[in-house]
Amino acid sequence: MKSKKNLILIGMMGSGKSTIGRLLAQKLNLSFLDIDFLIEKKVKMKIAEIFENKGEEIFRKLEKEFTLKFLNKTNCIISLGGGAFIDETIKKEAQKKGITIWLNWNSQTLINRIKKNKKRPVVINLNDSELKNLILSRSKIYSKAKYKIDCENMNKIEIVEKIKQIYESI
Ligand code: S3P
Repeated sequence: MKSKKNLILIGMMGSGKSTIGRLLAQKLNLSFLDIDFLIEKKVKMKIAEIFENKGEEIFRKLEKEFTLKFLNKTNCIISLGGGAFIDETIKKEAQKKGITIWLNWNSQTLINRIKKNKKRPVVINLNDSELKNLILSRSKIYSKAKYKIDCENMNKIEIVEKIKQIYESI
């Protein structure tokens, strides 16, 4: 198979990066790499436990190390953690080594989804308005992705199909 750049899914937690990534990988017959999952497997701790026991700084170091390492692969679908693209080096490398795709949703949809899962350490103590501010400030950075998918009125299959079309056109 001809070596092709990775497809790199970015976006807020709750934006469906892992679900869409897995479906997309099946559809395109590519490997799927979920950076958070790879960290959990290696460290033998859940992300929430890493935050709790080692702190966010150590998590961010691990995230950077793992993300930069796996960005060197080719022919993969890679799902980044929601905060990874905020790091300047990760952003630059992701842009260079892959096709970045932002899964964009309305803030309220993300807030509703994020609140359903109480295990997310970064947002556990944020109220709705703080969460909205985080989404808005991160969105400015996510918007640097090469492609933006407005997912709000699409189902999973349609989102996957849209990204597949992008992949096949490049
Ligand atoms: C984070 C998002 C999480 C995980 C960690 C930090 C963030 O990944 O990396 O809890 O800062 O947004 P998901 O976006 O896959 O939930």
